[in-house]
Amino acid sequence: MANGVNIQVGDITVTYLESHQTILNCLEAANVEVHFHCRDGFCGACRITLEEGQVAYPHGEPLAFVGEGEILACCCQPVSDIRVSID
Ligand code: FES
Repeated sequence: MANGVNIQVGDITVTYLESHQTILNCLEAANVEVHFHCRDGFCGACRITLEEGQVAYPHGEPLAFVGEGEILACCCQPVSDIRVSID
């Protein structure tokens, strides 16, 4: 876990705190809209593009398909400052 790292989305920079638990929680707390459904790594609805930085899946690799350069925001955490884009 990387408490205090930044998540950049477009012009917005959000600081990740451990209490956010996932990148999805962190973006929601900052009123950044991300699609989601299962919130558990199964459906792929929360797929976003990781443009810079690294993330980790603390509960293991998710079951949903994740393409090259994509992450599932509902079940990963940043391990460095990251930059993402949301379609
Ligand atoms: S919301 Fe279903 S995989 Fe993230």
